[in-house]
Amino acid sequence: MHKEEMAPAKDFKNAIKRLFHELKPFHILISISFILAIVGSILSIMSPSKLTRLTDTITDGIIIRKDNLTELTNTISNKFTSESMSELIPKVLSPKLDNETISKVMMSKDISSEAKKTFNETLTSISTTHNYSDLTKLDEKILKLILPDTTYEGVTVSTSDKIALLNISEGNINLTYNLQKIFLPDVTIANTLVTSTEQYKFVSAMNSLGKDASSTDLYHAIDDMPDSIKSLVNPIMDMDKIKSIVIFLVILYLCSALFSFLEALIMTHVSNKFAYSLRDKISKKIHVLPLKYFDLHAVGDTLSRVTNDVDTIAQSMNQSLSTLVSSVTLLLGTIIMMFVTNPILAITAIVSSVLGFMGMIAVLSKSQKYFVARQTELGNLNGHIEEIYSGLNVVKAYNAKEEADKTFDMYNERVQECNEKSQFLSGLMMPMMSFIGNFGYVAVCIVGALLTMNGSITFGVIIAFITYVRLFTSPLSQIAQAATSMQSTAAASERVFEFLDEEEMPLEENKRHLELKNVKGNITFKDVTFTYDGNPKPTITNFQAEAKSGQKIAIVGPTGSGKTTIVNLLMKFYDIDSGDILIDGISTKDLTRDNIHSLFTMVLQDTWLFEGTIKENIIYNREGISDEEVYNVCKKIGLDHFIRTLPDGYDTVVSENDSVSQGQRQLLTIARSMLSHTPFLILDEATSNVDTRTEELVQSAMDKLTEGKTSFIIAHRLSTIRNADLILVMKDGKIIETGNHDELMNKNGFYAKLYNSQFEL
Ligand SMILES: Nc1ncnc2c1ncn2[C@@H]1O[C@H](COP(=O)(O)OP(=O)(O)O)[C@@H](O)[C@H]1O
Ligand SMILES: [Mg+2]
Repeated sequence: MHKEEMAPAKDFKNAIKRLFHELKPFHILISISFILAIVGSILSIMSPSKLTRLTDTITDGIIIRKDNLTELTNTISNKFTSESMSELIPKVLSPKLDNETISKVMMSKDISSEAKKTFNETLTSISTTHNYSDLTKLDEKILKLILPDTTYEGVTVSTSDKIALLNISEGNINLTYNLQKIFLPDVTIANTLVTSTEQYKFVSAMNSLGKDASSTDLYHAIDDMPDSIKSLVNPIMDMDKIKSIVIFLVILYLCSALFSFLEALIMTHVSNKFAYSLRDKISKKIHVLPLKYFDLHAVGDTLSRVTNDVDTIAQSMNQSLSTLVSSVTLLLGTIIMMFVTNPILAITAIVSSVLGFMGMIAVLSKSQKYFVARQTELGNLNGHIEEIYSGLNVVKAYNAKEEADKTFDMYNERVQECNEKSQFLSGLMMPMMSFIGNFGYVAVCIVGALLTMNGSITFGVIIAFITYVRLFTSPLSQIAQAATSMQSTAAASERVFEFLDEEEMPLEENKRHLELKNVKGNITFKDVTFTYDGNPKPTITNFQAEAKSGQKIAIVGPTGSGKTTIVNLLMKFYDIDSGDILIDGISTKDLTRDNIHSLFTMVLQDTWLFEGTIKENIIYNREGISDEEVYNVCKKIGLDHFIRTLPDGYDTVVSENDSVSQGQRQLLTIARSMLSHTPFLILDEATSNVDTRTEELVQSAMDKLTEGKTSFIIAHRLSTIRNADLILVMKDGKIIETGNHDELMNKNGFYAKLYNSQFEL
């Protein structure tokens, strides 16, 4: 495991930038989805103002019609202003205070001298103040004389009417019928005729209510009013208006839902298609990565990038992108609408929400590192699992279970920890946001109530603002959540793009092409030197060899001497540092890898079988091979009998972890190779797991098969390569002896020692 490779420096901005760049093929679809999101948001922003109208219309339908009530009250109270009264009262009273009447009073025997005295005093005060109210103090008999029945504008005003008029005060507004006619002439309000009597009833009822009357008292009072007034002030539900607003709202909500649905549909498609293309790219990338990449990276880490990270991108992108757009639109739109509706309430709602939101951002900024860590630790855990389970019996055999468990526990714990922290922090978001939302409601309700009380807004505006607070805080929390998602997306996409950006094998352009049928089969190693990345010294130094067409070349040497490395170089799995390898005189540098691979058949010590039948595994990736050929090959290497004992014979399904022995696996891969008709054959310890007798069987079968082919055999048991045309003896990456078996034995050098030692065992 190479942990230092897995904790990359995280650059959120660039990762997102890169993501958008990679999303280029989807830009049109994404734009459509963005537009849908924006339109959907605008529709939702429109609804509260409609709600205000709906609420206000409904409120109008359940409370008395203030405007008519006010008009009525105003009309009546206008008639009672002190100016109109002071003008009207003398005219209605029209007191007779001429000398004749005065002397009549003075002369009257029925009137006491006391009363006459008062009369005299009153006369004096009236002449200066013109305040007739003092007349009430006078004796009734005097009043009869000075306030005789008169007519005012056609209405007869009797003495008693006049006395009643004199008695009118704030606490007493008893009007006689005639006075009602004069002071409250019929009026028409909102096309309704309100007669004097009706007006008088209204005034008396309102007066008796007093100042502290509740609205319930008002409603009761109105219930007892004459019909004309009831029809004026009783509430009317404007059903037509309500209907049209409701229909509009329903359409609004339906459209909004439809747009969200479409937008979700598009984004789901885009994100999954994008994930598909990423997986596709990764899969293609694996084929163009040099082998050295896999020397340096754990398989589990790469696996994690293909599966976990791509999945994370698909999911989180789906959740975050359009949400972000619609939320931002919603947020801005709501702010504008709030300010248009009522700036004071707008500021109340925004300040209370933003205060809470700032706290959340503080939490959020802390959480990012846990999201990055989570992906990294998941990669580590996967790498470890891959490592342990691919070699489970070795782990067990060495009693390393405990050690492996300990490591596993450590990674597992770290994943848990990072998961817990990141999930806890993102889980905290919801309750925090609902708290902020509720806080906003309360603030809006309090300030709204105050504003309603002083009449600057209607009740419907509070309703609208409660919706605005919801519209305002939900995008805030959505933006916060989308931001968390974006962080996962950024972390995951950074890892994926990092993989996609890995240096590839150089492009093979303007290369020559060797036709299979034209190949003669000569191979020359010219002074080849090669060093594995990260190794301090070369694994192969100045390797010189020549294989002629049809020759059987054996490479022998102790483990680690570089035999497999020579094969790797021949197959161009790695590029050599210096020197050259020539096929028919053409440098492998001038040939494509695919071209070279098509010329070789390779059997390795590591066997590879795929999930499929035995026959399919033998035929692997080739066409036009008959069953007969398959049976023949298997017979030649002694595999036929074993296969026929299997339950389904050649159609038995095998897979990587089946109960086929290692040796039998090797034989299957040898059978596979024997059906290949390429000019070159490489066997790298291909028979290391089969018994000596079978090995000899395989070798003789091979020898027949490889007639005319150039073959490279790497074998442990030197007895099997005794007939090789050329034996290259390697030690520490160098050829130390060459020759055929007899020559080398005669030399009595390293080879002879090696050969003899195998018989001493
Ligand atoms: N992928 C690799 N990365 C780094 N070093 C390697 C790699 N493969 C082999 N080596 C080193 O190169 C040397 C030769 O290995 P190899 O050619 O496999 O030996 P063998 O003769 O047993 O086949 C060994 O010392 C080994 O440590
Ligand atoms: Mg080897």
